[in-house]
Amino acid sequence: MTPAEKLIEKHRLTKEEYIALIGMAEDKDTRDLLRTEAVRLRQKYYGNKVFTRGLIEFTNYCKNNCYYCGIRRDNRNVSRYRLTKEEILTCCREGYRLGFRTFVLQGGEDPYFTDERTVEIIRAVKEAHSDCALTLSIGEKSYESYRRYREAGADRYLLRHETANEAHYGMLHPTSMSLAARKKCLYDLKALGYQVGAGFMVGSPGQTAETLADDLVFLGELQPQMVGIGPFLPHHETRFADKEAGSVELTLFLLSVIRILLPTVLLPATTALGTADPKGRERGILAGANVVMPNLSPLRNRKQYELYDNKICTGDEAAECCMCLAGRMKSVGYRLVEERGDALF
Ligand code: 5AD
Ligand code: FES
Repeated sequence: MTPAEKLIEKHRLTKEEYIALIGMAEDKDTRDLLRTEAVRLRQKYYGNKVFTRGLIEFTNYCKNNCYYCGIRRDNRNVSRYRLTKEEILTCCREGYRLGFRTFVLQGGEDPYFTDERTVEIIRAVKEAHSDCALTLSIGEKSYESYRRYREAGADRYLLRHETANEAHYGMLHPTSMSLAARKKCLYDLKALGYQVGAGFMVGSPGQTAETLADDLVFLGELQPQMVGIGPFLPHHETRFADKEAGSVELTLFLLSVIRILLPTVLLPATTALGTADPKGRERGILAGANVVMPNLSPLRNRKQYELYDNKICTGDEAAECCMCLAGRMKSVGYRLVEERGDALF
């Protein structure tokens, strides 16, 4: 049996088998086989529905210094902003009107947003939109902080693990950060009953078939409800400015693999994928993804939240983005739905 056939049958491979599978990523028959199975599984659980998440990038201040990231602390050439609670609520109101039933509050690790302030915002959003899910994406916090946010009403949490390989993690982050701390956060979040999202960049500097195999093994262990992956894209104000972007084809291949590994996973066709390829999000859906995350942030702040160069959709109102995405999904036979889109399990 080939690794691809075994993945389809068992939904799980060993590290060595994942390495062999990734070695076949350029083989057309393997790609087609996995994509067909990924689409079959997505169709079985979700039909042709695509869930939307309204992304609100509410602060680009960050105390961390991840080497790949455009808004890391030491980048002096980015103008910093924070949204007020009222501005966040305005974004949500507009998003609700446009049909969003999940809001994602994403930001750098900004000490201004103490637990008190964060809890106040969570309460306000959930009070205004009790039929919506609220997702946080604000980095590493203590168990106690996560507990307070959960109690205040947060439903989901996105925290990409970035790489499950210790040595590779060290190539992407300063020594103040560790893979162990990142994993602890993810397990804490699960224990607190959040729907949890992990994930990684495809083609980040230093990534190999082995580190990717570690990522897939880790996803199998963690069993997250969501997985975010997109190609690494260089940002000119980082040490990786001259590195090559990650491969769109490999990203699509891995989307199919992850759909088979975690059949009911909520899997976005990411903005990074749409940036790397004009048809990236459509192709992501056709590879097994079932979520898109358009931007609801105020237009004036869009360009300031540049994690990588040339990010798309920084010039369009949320309404235009929705129309555009709805058309794009329809063009490949899928439809955006006005639902919370919770994990099935
Ligand atoms: N290219 C692609 N993705 C990036 N991210 C951060 N910087 C980049 C980049 N240069 C991703 C990280 C992070 C998520 C919010 O965005 O995986 O977790
Ligand atoms: Fe924003 Fe298309 S999704 S312009």
